[in-house]
Amino acid sequence: MKISKICCIGAGYVGGPTMSVIAQKCPHITVTIVDINEKRIAAWNDPDPARLPVYEPGLAEVVTEARGRNLFFSTDVDGAIAEADMVFISVNTPTKTYGKGKGMAADLKYIELCARQIAAAANSDKIIVEKSTLPVRTAEALKSILHNTGNGVSFHILSNPEFLAEGTAIQDLHDPDRVLIGGENPEAVQALVDVYASWVPRERILTTNLWSSELSKLTANAFLAQRVSSINAISELCERTGANVDEVARAIGTDSRIGGKFLRASVGFGGSCFQKDILNLVYIARSYGLHEVAHYWEQVIAMNDHQKRRFADNIVQTMYNTVSGKKIAFLGWAFKKDTNDTRESAAIYVADALLSEEARIVVYDPKVSAGQVYADLDYLGTRSPEENRRLVAVVNDPYEATGSAHAVAVLTEWDEFKAYDWPRIKEGMMKPAFLFDGRKLLAANRLPDLGFQYYAIGE
Ligand code: NAD
Ligand code: UGA
Repeated sequence: MKISKICCIGAGYVGGPTMSVIAQKCPHITVTIVDINEKRIAAWNDPDPARLPVYEPGLAEVVTEARGRNLFFSTDVDGAIAEADMVFISVNTPTKTYGKGKGMAADLKYIELCARQIAAAANSDKIIVEKSTLPVRTAEALKSILHNTGNGVSFHILSNPEFLAEGTAIQDLHDPDRVLIGGENPEAVQALVDVYASWVPRERILTTNLWSSELSKLTANAFLAQRVSSINAISELCERTGANVDEVARAIGTDSRIGGKFLRASVGFGGSCFQKDILNLVYIARSYGLHEVAHYWEQVIAMNDHQKRRFADNIVQTMYNTVSGKKIAFLGWAFKKDTNDTRESAAIYVADALLSEEARIVVYDPKVSAGQVYADLDYLGTRSPEENRRLVAVVNDPYEATGSAHAVAVLTEWDEFKAYDWPRIKEGMMKPAFLFDGRKLLAANRLPDLGFQYYAIGE
């Protein structure tokens, strides 16, 4: 099977960058990314690269190179499905907010809608690729829907989970550690291997059965998140004992069996996937009666919740047990640097805890809009939207954010924060000038020497 037309359903943080890179690296394949969200598609088609809906270093260049040549963004979902030899499903799979499995299981309604739409629109044989992160054995449900509701054409289902991290998506896609393809039909598997082999060395393209592929994605995220929770657990012990978590991380990370990556202590991991995927893993384990397995992985989330909470508690305690009416400047709102994504960002939960103590918060983030900050707080439902707007301001200038603040809290590790004029910031603040570094970002800036009361995670 040779692929000449690809359709991808879902033009989000995964579908957009992933398919743009396939189009860039495979000029012989026409790639059409479709979405029901008209605004998002219009933004992908915007000639101004600054207005693409996803901010990722290097993405605008890739889109500019391929768009209009063999890369297209469209709202015509049925048309793109009908034309394609291969259809990727890259829609969102959030945690269920209702019914059985509420707060734990993955909500598969968007996946099922896609399957039904593919079945209805397809008038030729197609390879269907699961790009979204899905519970193990979802391919079985997809198969059943496609085969029972289709027009008599045949479908082969592959699992091809995505491992890119936001902020480094283009680099990760250009030079992946591995590409994983699970499937039953050897020709269908080979067709997708051939797409990636245009730029990924063959030995890095792994093929497995469907269920191993589906489960490997949840497992990879669980292991990664577990490392962050493990080092964060140690960070609290460091704070009590005089050990320094960076030194401990370096000392253990040089053991080649442990490895040095993903050991940065922080205010807690965020992002749309770690929590959702672990909760899903826990739910799956429990649904098979594997309670010890479920309990084991649940602790990764418990530790992360604790880390976010104790960062906020420490701010309150250090500031004489009250932040009521005090101005706290937040540097950073995104869940990590180099992205405009704020989903599950620790900043949201720290802000919520401080607002409940009647603090006033002023946020500065280089890539996050005021509308997004308010949407994140409103979504929690802790207080009314009016109250959130009364207590929280969002500004475009870090010096305005920190001016006359009682404290500064670093929530995201944006590089630019390190280059700020910290003596000037201290001058403008209320004294004592408290600085709570949730990323251990400013250790080299010698803030205590400048007169800041400096508190960093794990120190
Ligand atoms: P997203 O919310 O940014 O994008 C999903 C898009 O799908 C939305 O634009 C939505 O409008 C669209 N959509 C939903 N239903 C549709 C339908 N029936 N027809 C057409 N479009 C539809 O989500 P995302 O971050 O891109 O994540 C997508 C999947 O990839 C999830 O399963 C996620 O777990 C997984 N994943 C995400 C990342 C990441 O870094 N964000 C990394 C690896 C895997
Ligand atoms: C993560 C995985 O790294 C990707 O492989 C995966 O594809 C993706 O989830 C997904 O499935 O969505 P992402 O969430 O984009 O990627 O970013 P990460 O770099 O993993 O960071 C996640 C969170 O952990 C961030 O809040 C980050 O600040 C935090 N983190 C990460 C730490 O606190 N310490 C670290 O050492 C590493």
